[in-house]
Amino acid sequence: MADILIVEDKESFATMLKASLEDESITAQLAKDGRAALRLFKKEKFEIALIDMKLPDIDGIELLRQLKRTDTDTKFLIMTAFGTIERAVEAMKLGAYDFLTKPFDVEQLIALIQRILQEQRRYYENILLRDEMSKIHGAPEIIGKGPAVKHVAELLQKAAPTDTTVLIVGESGTGKELFARACHMLSPRKDNPFVAINCAAIPHQLLEHELFGSEKGAFTGAVARKIGKFELANKGTVFLDEVGDLDLDLQAKLLRVLQEMNFERLGGTYTINIDVRIIAATNRDLMNLVKEKKFREDLYYRLSVFPIRIPPLRERKEDLRLLVDHILRKLHSDKNISPRATEKLSRYDWPGNIRELENTIERANIIAKKKIQPEDILLPERKVSLVKEELPRTLKAAASAGRELAEVEVIKKTLEQTQNNKSEAARRIGVSYKTLLSRIKKYRKKGLL
Ligand SMILES: Nc1ncnc2c1ncn2[C@@H]1O[C@H](COP(=O)(O)OP(=O)(O)OP(=O)(O)O)[C@@H](O)[C@H]1O
Ligand SMILES: [Mg+2]
Repeated sequence: MADILIVEDKESFATMLKASLEDESITAQLAKDGRAALRLFKKEKFEIALIDMKLPDIDGIELLRQLKRTDTDTKFLIMTAFGTIERAVEAMKLGAYDFLTKPFDVEQLIALIQRILQEQRRYYENILLRDEMSKIHGAPEIIGKGPAVKHVAELLQKAAPTDTTVLIVGESGTGKELFARACHMLSPRKDNPFVAINCAAIPHQLLEHELFGSEKGAFTGAVARKIGKFELANKGTVFLDEVGDLDLDLQAKLLRVLQEMNFERLGGTYTINIDVRIIAATNRDLMNLVKEKKFREDLYYRLSVFPIRIPPLRERKEDLRLLVDHILRKLHSDKNISPRATEKLSRYDWPGNIRELENTIERANIIAKKKIQPEDILLPERKVSLVKEELPRTLKAAASAGRELAEVEVIKKTLEQTQNNKSEAARRIGVSYKTLLSRIKKYRKKGLL
């Protein structure tokens, strides 16, 4: 996950470039010939490729042509020797972004790269409806560039302008509320209220009152009429957050409202018609709750007309760097993050997702001097205790629990040492790649890894 690929056969020069760039927090990878470049390019995404025209195995122009076919977003910079300016012109015609004639000033190269990266980042920001978003005041900024987030953004763009009920599913901290707000802001209802209700935060007895309101005298202490959230949201959007936590009784009432688009206030005698769009969100597996009879199947189908799954951060680590920059900007920080610190972030699996990343960066920003270094990033030491709820009863069970823990430690350590290179890790610990993957999966499921 580097910003730039340097394709250069002269090793000392390439290493010097890499070091100078990394001083400026620009990450680089090296390829010493065309073959290596093509291989890396297929595996990873680079914002920029800096290509030497003269390579041992392939002509720079030909390499440019092939790389361009692999990734059309990358910007290509060409390095040519003095006196071969025609080649540079040829490269420009093929769509290279710029060229530098050797020997060049490294400062000049860095300035050029910084300019390109800034442009690229601006382009990636607000992935959601880049054009429309900028026109809509107050729409949330959604950051991301990887295919996972792009897919979510596309789905949202399709659903937003309709009145379809949208169900946003995702782990905690993945941005469910952010996407829900964006969905509202991109709909024709955007000038009407967006009313969020957290079904998990309000005690069940009070929730009904919150949702539907009450008439004066509906119960002891109801001294005035109270307007509920559904009524407040009229012509707008109701966001039912943590909808999986609704109790069965309220689920039935909610279903009725969704079907009829009307309800009565508590203690009320007449029916109130409403016009609201529903967006629901949950971090629980609703289908599972249905199976366990904790969630009504009919309500589930009603809500999941248009489900959108927001992937956890660990599945879209390509967005980490952009998110960090975004968070630092929101903090009005003038610090940036070192490549080694970024690497540390990408080795962690972020159970609390973007919210956890925000907290981590906020802390690091306070601790760090000018640049955030790995030691400024405090990540929880994942404590694995041998006993989760209770001690194993038999010695056999104890032995197997102990063995699992030991395996987890070895896997964790080796993944760290190999910088998450799973095939290398598998080789080192003497199992097949497949075995390692299935172990990782197993231990993740158990919350040990
Ligand atoms: N793609 C993104 N770009 C920028 N900021 C984001 C993105 N996704 C999430 N965030 C930020 O992360 C934080 C958590 O997002 P949000 O509250 O929407 O998550 P959530 O899924 O509703 O979490 P929870 O389940 O804990 O309620 C917010 O500060 C939000 O602005
Ligand atoms: Mg939320």
